[in-house]
Amino acid sequence: MADRVLIFDTTLRDGEQSPGASLNVPEKLEIARQLERLGVDVIEAGFPISSPGDFAAVQAVCKVVRNAVVCGLTRARSNDIDVAAEALKEAVRPRIHTGLGVSDNHLAHKLNTTREGAKEQGVAAVKHARRYVEDVEYFLEDAGRAAPDYLCEVIEAVVAAGATVINIPDTTGYATPAEFGALIASVMNRVPNIGKAVVSVHCHDDLGLAAANALAGVKAGARQVECTVNGIGGGAGNTSLEEVVMAMRVRSDVYGADTGIVTQEIYKTSRLVSNLTGILVQPNKAIVGANAFAHSSGIHQDGVLKERSTYEIIDPRDVGIPESRILLTARSGRHALLHRLQHLGYDLDDPQLDRVYERFLQVADRKKMIHDEDLEVIVADETTLVRVSYELLHVQVSCGDHSIPTATVELRGPGGQTMTDSDHGTGPVDAIYRAINRVTRVDNELIEFGIQAVTEGIDALAEVTIRIRSEDDILTGRGSHSDICVASGRAYVNALNRLIEKRETAGAATVARHSHSVREERA
Ligand code: KIV
Ligand code: ZN
Repeated sequence: MADRVLIFDTTLRDGEQSPGASLNVPEKLEIARQLERLGVDVIEAGFPISSPGDFAAVQAVCKVVRNAVVCGLTRARSNDIDVAAEALKEAVRPRIHTGLGVSDNHLAHKLNTTREGAKEQGVAAVKHARRYVEDVEYFLEDAGRAAPDYLCEVIEAVVAAGATVINIPDTTGYATPAEFGALIASVMNRVPNIGKAVVSVHCHDDLGLAAANALAGVKAGARQVECTVNGIGGGAGNTSLEEVVMAMRVRSDVYGADTGIVTQEIYKTSRLVSNLTGILVQPNKAIVGANAFAHSSGIHQDGVLKERSTYEIIDPRDVGIPESRILLTARSGRHALLHRLQHLGYDLDDPQLDRVYERFLQVADRKKMIHDEDLEVIVADETTLVRVSYELLHVQVSCGDHSIPTATVELRGPGGQTMTDSDHGTGPVDAIYRAINRVTRVDNELIEFGIQAVTEGIDALAEVTIRIRSEDDILTGRGSHSDICVASGRAYVNALNRLIEKRETAGAATVARHSHSVREERA
């Protein structure tokens, strides 16, 4: 019998640290709902004290999640814990995730405290959190570089104080699998009260070892793995959920462990997270990359056609990669489209379906065959959860090696009015963005621009992903069209809408906080 390992998903907290991955509340809710369908055990929904947006997201996730534990991160400070407890109030199964650094490096340079001081602060934080919830997870930041004796001492103290889960992170991604496995084994063997808590591993991918380290931890006795969908996260990212889950499933002979993940939901979850964060999945990514199941070498193709198991260790259907690729054309009716969308797992309401159908017809006019990948980007574009302040109606560009690139754009603005303007630039995209800037007047800088074809073929849809920076915010924008200039314009307007929404939400929160403190002062 395989042991059950809990999957703690931190896509909405640690994953959201990826530059530009910032998600609004409806997007976080959509991901949380899909994580429940995927069967994760814990959803870390955010860091409530960090911003009003994070607080609101944690509160909203608590209202929709019914089965999974919903967790909020805090530093080991009572104020953080009070705020997290408030945000988690409506969760069916709330968890407070608190903790502090444990390596000498963090104690000296980040926390400016002593080993004894940090231990006392950790114990006090756990006791404070236990006044609100029964489920308290304690993280020992930078455990991968900590002195093992001190690490064990802190763990014993916080378990005695009431911690139910002990999170051992390799925050800097420095450990090797043998070292990290030995660290977990020593915690399991040396901490006398460790049986009262679940040991969790939280590995970062700076050396590309996150999944290997997490699995070494499982082999040594950890029974919770912290991870993100597609491995997203700040820096090199976190342990990739799909990799650890499938490694335990396929090699249960080695790990003697399995999870409650509904693996058939993996691919869909991966696509959703990529679409909403704008972080593309590299083609050679294990399990969910476009090439993971594509055998282009002649020898492999020949083998797989004769017998799949010659070169494939996972059946693509087990991770939910759609098997039959029925292609739609301009002659496919609304019913055929609806049927295919349902098969792909989309549940659209009537107005959404109307918009998707209209766009489908436009695309089918230019492209003979519509693939599932095309439908995915059409749905992503037409059902955006970002508030649409500006809509790009038309783009016209003139460019070439003997002309000055010039663009004219027409947009619909927040009040429904249409506005037209033109500008020139160093190239067609620059000209379009300058023309859009003349209409929208939102100060920002383009810091990243990427383009890819959604499918093969000269008539493929182009998908543009960009990032813009405005003050301290980095925002992502995505747009698709068979004309790369129009796709670029759409991506830019999408990023601007995100920025405007973020500013308005932050402004509303400041006003709310201000009136709250005025009320408090009056009282
Ligand atoms: O990597 C880390 O140490 C963390 C903790 C805050 C849990 O993300
Ligand atoms: Zn982390």
